[in-house]
Amino acid sequence: MTEKDFIPDAYSSVINKGKATYKSPSNIALVKYWGKKENQIPANPSISFTLDACATTTTVSYRKLNVKPSDFSFDLIFEGKPKEDFKPKIKTFFNRIEQYLPFLKEYHFSIETSNSFPHSSGIASSASGMSALALCLMEIERELNSNLTADHFNKKASFLARLGSGSACRSIQGDLVQWGDHAGIEGSSDLYAVKFPNEVHPIFKKYHDTILLVDKGQKQVSSTVGHDLMHNHPFAKNRFDQAHENLTKLKLVFASGDLDEFIEIVESEALTLHAMMMTSLPYFVLMKPNTLQIINKIWAFRESSNTHVCFTLDAGANVHVLYPESEKEIVYQFIKDELVAFCENGQYLCDRIGFGAKKM
Ligand code: PMV
Repeated sequence: MTEKDFIPDAYSSVINKGKATYKSPSNIALVKYWGKKENQIPANPSISFTLDACATTTTVSYRKLNVKPSDFSFDLIFEGKPKEDFKPKIKTFFNRIEQYLPFLKEYHFSIETSNSFPHSSGIASSASGMSALALCLMEIERELNSNLTADHFNKKASFLARLGSGSACRSIQGDLVQWGDHAGIEGSSDLYAVKFPNEVHPIFKKYHDTILLVDKGQKQVSSTVGHDLMHNHPFAKNRFDQAHENLTKLKLVFASGDLDEFIEIVESEALTLHAMMMTSLPYFVLMKPNTLQIINKIWAFRESSNTHVCFTLDAGANVHVLYPESEKEIVYQFIKDELVAFCENGQYLCDRIGFGAKKM
């Protein structure tokens, strides 16, 4: 498919007003997307676990305007209050997607949105937020075009979400989602994410992610700045090649259920992401001392307990602690006894693998 396939033909119906609500989850990458080309095309393929509890719920109410205005017409309510400072991001998003949703200037939209996780938790809401909004807009398109197939709906929702925030394209479906062209994954695309199409061992069907909030502040480096750091980065080419190789290896691990191999790939990906930031210009250290304390504790506990707990990181100091369902009691006890002390105000979020966005 190409971008052109997402430009709709003339719509078959006329709708004056309506409302759409979606709850869309966050996701955690196992092979990381870091670096992009123009139009939010990823520099390398990535794969993620869709989460369950960390989610954004968005309602879009729409009303047809009598005269098509020169600019987009919308209000934004975040957790019950108008939120002017989110509007420029939405406007940029609308500008990027208008050619694919030509009705955008024909309606006034009231967008009401809220997150299941605390606002200042250091948890990025762009993946869940942009995917929820993209899905609500696709629901309007479905009203205007009753011939839309479920497959096209999902692909286009992911395609649009990608234009809001790259990783958001992996938040439409569950439970294991892959984005970006990869020779070994049939149907993979740079334009949208797909449900991982290959064999998945049952051990990966129920996985836990306990998110340790080490630093609840604003992100030190925005994603936009971060991705840009990969332009002219001395290790960029090797890193992009490595992501392809890690995905090839993970494909085998997903089939075999080999957790030792899983851990090695996932932790190496997290550390490589941070290594890219430490070796770019300007350079950044996004881990905090407590991030390292947690990592060392996880390594020591894994060794002494013979469990398969491991960690991954986003572009920040928080730690995602990953473990299979069969080890949840022992690992959760360890988290409470030994890791929570390193969290800001003792805060953490218990999440698990989820099955994608839901229409409400
Ligand atoms: O979606 P963005 O542009 O905020 O980038 C997210 C990048 C990482 O979270 C660090 C990695 C990933 O693949 O999700």
